[in-house]
Amino acid sequence: MTTKKITAAITAVGGFVPEDKLTNADLEKMVETTDEWIKTRTGISERRILKGEGKASSDMGAPAVIDLCHRRGIDPLEIDCLICCTVTPDMLFPATANIICDKVGAKNAWGFDLEAACSGFLFGVTTGAALIESGRYKKVVIVGTDKMSAITDYSDRTTCILFGDAAACILLEPNTEGYGILDSLLKSDGSGRDYLYMRAGGSLKPPSMETLAAKEHFIYQDGQPVFKFAVKGMADVSAELLERNNLTGDDIAWLVPHQANKRIIDATANRMGLSQDKVMLNIQRYGNTTAATIPLCLWEWKHELNKGDLIVLAAFGGGFTWGATLVKWAY
Ligand code: UT7
Repeated sequence: MTTKKITAAITAVGGFVPEDKLTNADLEKMVETTDEWIKTRTGISERRILKGEGKASSDMGAPAVIDLCHRRGIDPLEIDCLICCTVTPDMLFPATANIICDKVGAKNAWGFDLEAACSGFLFGVTTGAALIESGRYKKVVIVGTDKMSAITDYSDRTTCILFGDAAACILLEPNTEGYGILDSLLKSDGSGRDYLYMRAGGSLKPPSMETLAAKEHFIYQDGQPVFKFAVKGMADVSAELLERNNLTGDDIAWLVPHQANKRIIDATANRMGLSQDKVMLNIQRYGNTTAATIPLCLWEWKHELNKGDLIVLAAFGGGFTWGATLVKWAY
């Protein structure tokens, strides 16, 4: 008797977005910018901001996981492992994954944080899929949660217009009918670290009065080089993923791109030969929520996804990190 190959199927999606909005009109009052500039250069109209004393990334990740459990009809106690993808952990340690597990009552789960900036969710999905494929775990949750407002300098017009706060997650479970994560092509190149990073707060430059005064605890981005690498990286890897699976754009039901800039998304869709109506796009309402963008799209489009749909998840982010993942939708 031959044993059927185990794949990791996405069996549920959960999400959480904070209520408070930061619109382009609000930003016009804070920095020298215009609604017109932001929309034409990025595609963003508004973002969500997590307000309130003592609120952190886990306070978005936890309700997203609860939402996921409700949708799948499972108890958090059934979760075996939770991977939290984030660049804005509640604190440097312990891992936000542990905090989320505690908040939702996932007492049987082990977990860890995974940091690959805007590609974090893809790296998390690929890691989680390997855990499922090993046969050792039955329910693995991948959460993307980022409170970008915590590390955004609202006096820097080149970055503050881009980012927002949100969380979303997926559940991976074993499948023997060929549904789920079919292939992943992931890349990283640490020589890109100087273009997009947080200068201080790590072991290289621990927090000090000087780092605070120099605003080194905020995101720094040299936009243009990142843009160039992102357009090429995301498009190349998505095209290569299709090619090595003998697929063309016609076979793909949806592209689920990281939402950093509408122009980068358009370039990727063009390279894949996909029309706009096959591209999930919600950057106009949420901006760039880093590790949350891709699952947030899945969460918003969940009722339009059909069993058997082939979808491509694609991302590019700090590191540099980038990649694309091919998924056969399982429900
Ligand atoms: O998610 C992780 C990966 N990140 C990305 O993929 C982001 C990649 N980069 C980008 O999306 C774009 O580079 C930005 C949206 C960040 C910037 O757009 P750009 O078209 O590359 O603009 P730029 O940096 O070349 O700036 C053009 C001009 C500059 O003025 P001068 O030098 O031409 O006079 C900027 O000072 O626009 C100016 N500018 C602004 N003007 C109004 C920069 N930010 C703003 C602003 N409002 N908010």
